[in-house]
Amino acid sequence: MVNIAVLISGSGTNLQAIIDSWQNKEINGNLKLVVSNRKNAYGLERARLAGIEALHIKDEDLLIKTLEDNQIDLIVLAGYLAIVSDKLINKFPNRIINIHPSLIPSFCGPGYYGIHVHEAAFKRGVKVSGATVHFVSAVVDGGPIILQRTIDISDCKTPEEIQTKILLNIEHKLIVEAVKLYCDGKLRVNNERVEIIWKEH
Ligand code: GRF
Repeated sequence: MVNIAVLISGSGTNLQAIIDSWQNKEINGNLKLVVSNRKNAYGLERARLAGIEALHIKDEDLLIKTLEDNQIDLIVLAGYLAIVSDKLINKFPNRIINIHPSLIPSFCGPGYYGIHVHEAAFKRGVKVSGATVHFVSAVVDGGPIILQRTIDISDCKTPEEIQTKILLNIEHKLIVEAVKLYCDGKLRVNNERVEIIWKEH
């Protein structure tokens, strides 16, 4: 059984989507730990309400020790706004996944987080955006792509409208789908590309 830790910094609606799916027994994994680098992140409360251990940890070494002590196999970054150190990435190669609210390689990389992603999409006037789930590598938002999904944003009049549309219609489904694929052992990384084994041959 895959032991899962979810790292958050804010409201945790992506975390909530994972919690709901896990409680519905749709995920072949054990949602063991939620960690936030911000003490007042509402996502910690979401974890507590679901009976999941919820910790506030800022120190990277303590984070790594906590993950190892809990035999964590998969780390999910769901709105985690701290940069993940090479040390952590090297300890969990292709075992850290992140959701980014755009179609990588558009509107990603240093400085592109939260509303800034959607401000850039709005300014550029793209008619379609979406979200990407990828493995975390040393390059910010540069790891192998696992899943992407698009949505029409031509009707959105503000960056906030884009953010809400993607969060509610795309992200919450995509992050759960990626966690399920990982826990079902259906993800393979080959030369920095992810192959999804949809069914055993
Ligand atoms: C989401 O937009 C996610 O794509 C980004 O940060 C936001 C987190 O939202 N990484 P929440 O805390 O899961 O509600």
